[in-house]
Amino acid sequence: MRVIEKISDLKAVIRSQKLSGKIIGFVPTMGYLHEGHISLVKASKDENDFTIMSIFVNPTQFGPNEDFEKYPRDMARDSKMAEEAGVDIIFAPTREEMYPDSYKTYIEVEDITGVLCGKTRPGHFKGVTTVVAKLFNIVEPDKAYFGQKDAQQVIVIKKMVRDLNMNLEVVICPIIREYDGLAMSSRNSYLSTGERKAAVILSKSLFEAKELIKNGERDASKLIKYISERISTVDFAEIDYVEITDAENLEEVEMINGKVLIALAVRFGKTRLIDNVVVEV
Ligand code: PAF
Repeated sequence: MRVIEKISDLKAVIRSQKLSGKIIGFVPTMGYLHEGHISLVKASKDENDFTIMSIFVNPTQFGPNEDFEKYPRDMARDSKMAEEAGVDIIFAPTREEMYPDSYKTYIEVEDITGVLCGKTRPGHFKGVTTVVAKLFNIVEPDKAYFGQKDAQQVIVIKKMVRDLNMNLEVVICPIIREYDGLAMSSRNSYLSTGERKAAVILSKSLFEAKELIKNGERDASKLIKYISERISTVDFAEIDYVEITDAENLEEVEMINGKVLIALAVRFGKTRLIDNVVVEV
């Protein structure tokens, strides 16, 4: 496995892989890898000849008071995990390589970026779509792999790919959870022992809501109230949002019908966690 920092070096490798007819899979990440990322690598390896992973903590998707500086970074550990998983190349550009001083161009998807996480993280999705579009242009993958944990992110990226006629397939892989149900996230490493214990309520309340729907509940506001009350029973939890939307266009729903996304964001101390389930009736 090679670690490449320069865009021009990566493009040269990709050119030769493409010339020899290789199908390229791409796993974009911000590093501090966990089993969720590794599941994306496995999917890419199953479906492609050559797998590229990017590791770049993208400054443009963090707000001024967010955790860009303290976002966990460990390149040695990430390289070992990526190599063991069978990644062919890690692309790990510097900030200057991706955003030189003269940088001026941003990509923005409208409407669906203003709801859910977009309400409390203005500008976040503009940073995500900008860096993902740049990475897609650099890597020119046949398929790119994202985790369903970032449900809104995957919907936004799929929309960008459709709207801009980008020539690749976006593949969404299931959420990978810890033994007790907590969705895997690099940010889980911030949690204190008490916060970590309390955070299990997120998946628990989502699974319970799914069960309520299975048993006939259709009123979205009752389900939101149920989840919010369950979360409020634990220490540390401060709800950012609990919402139920159409799973495709993220429009709020009043009654559960068809495919819906139940999504939430909750702070435990300084750590903001997200989780979701998709339910179809
Ligand atoms: O999901 C992430 O880790 C990031 O948002 C992504 C897609 C790598 C863009 O920086």
